[in-house]
Amino acid sequence: MKILIADDEQGIRLTLKDSLEEAGFSVSAVANGNEAVNMLREQKFECVISDIRMPGMDGISLLKYIKSERPGTEVILITAFGDVEQAVQAMKSGANDYIVKPFMNEEVILKVKKIEQLHELKVENLKLKQQISEDTGFGNLVGRSPEMKEIFNLIETVSPTDSSVLLCGESGTGKELVANLIHAKSLRKGKTLVKLSCAVFPETLLEDELFGHEKGAYTDAKAKKIGRFEQADGGTIFLDDIDDMSPKIQVKLLRVLQERCFERLGGTETVHVDIRIIAATKKDLGKLVKEGFFREDLYYRLNVIPIGIPSLRDHMQDIKLLAEHFIRMYGKDADYSIAPRTLERMMSYGWPGNVRELENAIERAIALAGESKELKEEHLFLPQKKDALYGSGDSLKLRDYVEKLSARYIAEVLKKTGGKKSLAAKVLGISRKSLWEKMKEYNIENEKKPLM
Ligand SMILES: Nc1ncnc2c1ncn2[C@@H]1O[C@H](COP(=O)(O)OP(=O)(O)OP(=O)(O)O)[C@@H](O)[C@H]1O
Ligand SMILES: [Mg+2]
Repeated sequence: MKILIADDEQGIRLTLKDSLEEAGFSVSAVANGNEAVNMLREQKFECVISDIRMPGMDGISLLKYIKSERPGTEVILITAFGDVEQAVQAMKSGANDYIVKPFMNEEVILKVKKIEQLHELKVENLKLKQQISEDTGFGNLVGRSPEMKEIFNLIETVSPTDSSVLLCGESGTGKELVANLIHAKSLRKGKTLVKLSCAVFPETLLEDELFGHEKGAYTDAKAKKIGRFEQADGGTIFLDDIDDMSPKIQVKLLRVLQERCFERLGGTETVHVDIRIIAATKKDLGKLVKEGFFREDLYYRLNVIPIGIPSLRDHMQDIKLLAEHFIRMYGKDADYSIAPRTLERMMSYGWPGNVRELENAIERAIALAGESKELKEEHLFLPQKKDALYGSGDSLKLRDYVEKLSARYIAEVLKKTGGKKSLAAKVLGISRKSLWEKMKEYNIENEKKPLM
């Protein structure tokens, strides 16, 4: 371990340096805070031992500099005898330890050895964390199952090519994440990735979004507009929900795929673009072709490289890994544990909303677990297997059923959140105001109970 000593008293500086060197450490010594900063800029030290009171930059300011600029460096401050306030201030500002003057050199060596152990642990921990991110998946895509490994391999193979890719998978399986990765691993990575869902625009707007228009193309077209294909020039375009594209636009897209060119709406000039197309769908596009809803020629052009992303229930082996990934993501650095029954429940549930549903469940569970830091089964809020409302025998209008279910769910969330409305609203994903309105509408009493 490399140690830097900063003290304006030459006697202390030199004897401390000598005894630490004797103990096997490599030591440099300077006379004040400014010199210490200069040294820290040039070399890496694992530990700094600094007097608090020094002319110019004092020990506390030096400590603050280290915390912000060299956060991996441990700090021991030297305080004057009887100055408790200084010692408190040192610890509050984030020093690892302090020594009171006058001190025995053996005492310092002991403290430094303790800090060395702590430092090694920290470094080890950091290494492990990095290793985890390498072992658990591929970029942000987590998974170790054969199903996911196959996806990783496909991404690795297709990314550097310019072939069109068709991503098929249920909602929440990670199609967008895969599209991001393919772009990021392609030669086009420095250029833009333009994303557009064909499901959110009606036909005329989608056409305008994709191809742009010339000034005066129609009444509202006050200026020329560059469409998404042109924006993506040199890069990649991700066309989500491609099954939602109308026949008219399908024809135009086919031409873009075949000739990489098109005309802006209301224009005659042919625009050439260099783009890579990634399309995605939640539906069975082959079936839509057979039923006549999707052009066969377009389907074959898009489907050059099909990647079928498995539903979560088809790679349940990854559940634990994924849950831990989301715990790291939403639990900041806190150590949350997953109760054994929670894991069992996760393993037996069908996850119709796939990884997105799991992500939401973990985020909610972390909010509900609170200080206990243990994710319990009930924190997941997964729907019960048998719903009593179904079994009751009476037939209900859909609206009434939905209302009953909402009322019951809201009451359940309120109970589990100990009646804390703002937390309950967060879990439910609605505003406090609409929670309050719904409670009135459904006649829900707010029980105030301690959080479980
Ligand atoms: N294998 C995975 N590893 C880590 N996170 C994942 C994985 N798959 C999905 N996710 C996460 O789940 C969420 C949903 O993923 P994404 O938006 O890519 O799904 P999608 O297939 O595009 O869904 P939709 O069809 O509803 O648009 C995102 O937050 C994403 O980061
Ligand atoms: Mg998506």
